[in-house]
Amino acid sequence: MLKIAVTKGRIQKQLTKLLLSANYDVQPILDMDRELQITTKDGFEFIFGKAPDVVTFLEQGVVDIGFVGKDTLAESDFEDYYELLDLGIGKCDFALAAYPDYTTKTFNRRKRIASKYPKIAKNYFAAREEDVEIIKLEGSVELGPVVGLSDAIIDIVETGNTLKANGLVVIDKFMPISTRLIASPASFKFKKNEMLQLIEKLEAVEK
Ligand code: PRP
Repeated sequence: MLKIAVTKGRIQKQLTKLLLSANYDVQPILDMDRELQITTKDGFEFIFGKAPDVVTFLEQGVVDIGFVGKDTLAESDFEDYYELLDLGIGKCDFALAAYPDYTTKTFNRRKRIASKYPKIAKNYFAAREEDVEIIKLEGSVELGPVVGLSDAIIDIVETGNTLKANGLVVIDKFMPISTRLIASPASFKFKKNEMLQLIEKLEAVEK
């Protein structure tokens, strides 16, 4: 039995497709209503949670493996895991985005940067030796510039549609992101064969 934590939403949808293509039983996932935990014929016990919680579940030893975005891993301080596979799904980029005049405008104060990823944002500006104020938002980060709360945002960009719809542009794309399969080192020791078999099957799927 492999205990698996999956990030709800886009990753869950794309992973379900991938598992189906790899001939795994995904019917219980497709039939899910408000359930948060299901078991499949392949002996997988899935739980579905928010991205940072997937990392917490692994950290706390309640699951063996997790499917989570590189964005969440990069923002987290947790390092005690094996990254076993880049699934090549959930592809997007971290970007600095703002209204088009951001690069030409003069700022006589610290720039304010809104982000759901304060650590990534802090590191981005620290690497450029820029002292900025980071404002943490939980979602719809584009609202930062829209409501005049921030001068720019650090966020993930996939199609760019959300930025465009709000008059914002990418100033700098700086880190590609995709979904990763991560494992707890302790579980890997005892369930290595099950994990390697899953990886082999997922890798064999044509994308
Ligand atoms: C993410 C991200 C952007 C949007 C980018 O938000 O924060 O808002 O997707 O996608 P796009 O480039 O294809 O428009 P998500 O929908 O995950 O929700 P959130 O804003 O609540 O974080």
